[in-house]
Amino acid sequence: MPNTEHITIRQPDDWHVHLRDGAMLRAVLPWTAAQFARGIIMPNLTPPVTTASAAAAYRDRILAARPEGSTFQPLMTCYLTDSTDPDEVERGHAGGIWVAAKLYPAGATTNAHHGVTDLARIRAVLERMERIGMPLLIHGETTDPEVDIFDREAVFVERILPPLLKAHPGLKVVLEHVTTIEAADFVRAHASRMAATITPHHLLINRTSLFQGGIRPHLYCLPIAKRERHRLALRKAATGGEACFFLGTDTAPHPAGAKETACGCAGCFVGPTALQCYTQVFDEEGALDKLELFASRNGPNFYGLPINEGTLTLRRGNTRMPEEIAVGGDRVVVFRGGGETAWSIG
Ligand code: DOR
Ligand code: ZN
Repeated sequence: MPNTEHITIRQPDDWHVHLRDGAMLRAVLPWTAAQFARGIIMPNLTPPVTTASAAAAYRDRILAARPEGSTFQPLMTCYLTDSTDPDEVERGHAGGIWVAAKLYPAGATTNAHHGVTDLARIRAVLERMERIGMPLLIHGETTDPEVDIFDREAVFVERILPPLLKAHPGLKVVLEHVTTIEAADFVRAHASRMAATITPHHLLINRTSLFQGGIRPHLYCLPIAKRERHRLALRKAATGGEACFFLGTDTAPHPAGAKETACGCAGCFVGPTALQCYTQVFDEEGALDKLELFASRNGPNFYGLPINEGTLTLRRGNTRMPEEIAVGGDRVVVFRGGGETAWSIG
């Protein structure tokens, strides 16, 4: 597609988004709702969303925070813990309150300390999910403190996933925000029942970017960005048209003060620039004709949902995006904000 100036695709969805709550929710939701028709809402609030009633109440708060006229649809998830009750999971699923459950290995990332300490403890939950056709969404990093941070995903893929898939042959699994060749290849090899989301930032930065001219706290997220060869492999996975890879921004806003500090937390706020960044990547890879599969078709197909009726147009050309947004008395720094993005929406 030589020098396409604009591209129109079916309205995309974000299959992995942190909207938070309260003032942060109200500040960040309009950015996500401006780009995506639906979003899989991560449940790692404090306290985490572990019951169907908590998920229903959170869904109502999201719906109430939508900008005037927005039809954005939140798709809720259940945060799994060692004591999750299979009946509660099934009740919430049958009642249309949540569409999937999220597995955080305990302590793996932000607000994951209530997560699962041992998969054996949720065997009955996974069996139930397998039976009712409810997907399991995984933060795929080992929490073994002996394992180097850059190896945590590959070790999880090697040690944890094979026995998990074997024990639950009917379970549908999404490996979230993949960052390595090992993860992408594993997902491909199990594509009949597995998929992966890929973030904009993991397509644009590598681990060297984290230290470009000094330490860059706003590029720190988990799983952490890996070597360049992994970034290049992720670009091939995202842009190759394979059904098992789809869009999930992992937009994860934090107040700037919580990142620009001696022990800064993980998460990139990519909501406002997500589609612009993805489109730039597909353009650079000569794959604009595959953008709709990744952004709008593969996700709904995996989840068994209809693709969106509406369309969205992206245009080549610079738009200045805000460097940061205000939340209460604080600010949240935008990934690739402050400058001009190569593509714009509308
Ligand atoms: O960087 C991250 N931030 N990774 C996660 O898994 C969680 C997220 C957050 O909630 O801030
Ligand atoms: Zn996330």
